[in-house]
Amino acid sequence: METRRIGIIGSGDVAKALGRGFARHGWDVKVGTRSPDKLRAWTDETAGTDDAVDVGSFAEAATHGDVVVLAVRGDVAKEALDLAGVTNFAGKLVLDATNPLDFTGGEPRLLFGGTDSLGERVQAMLPDASVVKCFNTVSHHQMVDPEFEAETPPMFVCGDDADAKARAEEILTELGWPGAEDAGGIESARYLEALVPLWVRVGENRDTWSHAFGVVQ
Ligand SMILES: NC(=O)c1ccc[n+]([C@@H]2O[C@H](COP(=O)([O-])OP(=O)(O)OC[C@H]3O[C@@H](n4cnc5c(N)ncnc54)[C@H](OP(=O)(O)O)[C@@H]3O)[C@@H](O)[C@H]2O)c1
Repeated sequence: METRRIGIIGSGDVAKALGRGFARHGWDVKVGTRSPDKLRAWTDETAGTDDAVDVGSFAEAATHGDVVVLAVRGDVAKEALDLAGVTNFAGKLVLDATNPLDFTGGEPRLLFGGTDSLGERVQAMLPDASVVKCFNTVSHHQMVDPEFEAETPPMFVCGDDADAKARAEEILTELGWPGAEDAGGIESARYLEALVPLWVRVGENRDTWSHAFGVVQ
């Protein structure tokens, strides 16, 4: 039976948006960080309400979730997974929201890409988990119950496990998305991650941060 426990590895804007959002949708959420104290004011805001979010270490969050979201800086994903304990992900769906971005020197660039991706590296680091790249191409403001002026596009996902992608799509639908746009195996993370520097440049030109890419026919 599917349970509704989710662990979120990370404490930044993405982890907070997803943590609150999943809680609002009735999930039992544990957010993981190396410094739980820094989230105290944030958790106090909803303590005792249905939207309450628990906080623990990376390992506690990974252990807690039947589904785990990875939401840390792309350049430290390996360090975060090592701290979380790779065995704590075994048999689980992992939604990988990370991007391998280099912010030195102005607009973000990919740290690596073309023939490699962070999605593939995360899957290789977690061989007993099913990694689905998800959430990485939209702003944290739009990750849960998105609101666009135009029709909401399905969320781009990719991953090697068809069942895991189907479960990811169910979760996305519950969170207010019209479904998932399947971009293929985890190798397609090369292209989903490459959308992000483009997303930033388009946002700067349009002076908006609430946009998303979609497929039209
Ligand atoms: N911001 C967005 O709208 C957005 C949208 C789509 C995708 N993303 C991607 O989602 C990921 C999270 O983004 P974010 O903006 O929420 O947060 P972020 O600032 O990119 O990452 C914060 C997280 O990184 C962890 N971290 C930093 N240094 C670390 C280290 N040396 N070892 C282990 N962990 C370390 C922090 O751990 P502690 O908790 O211990 O401090 C924290 O949980 C990124 O990969 C980003 O590219 C972001």
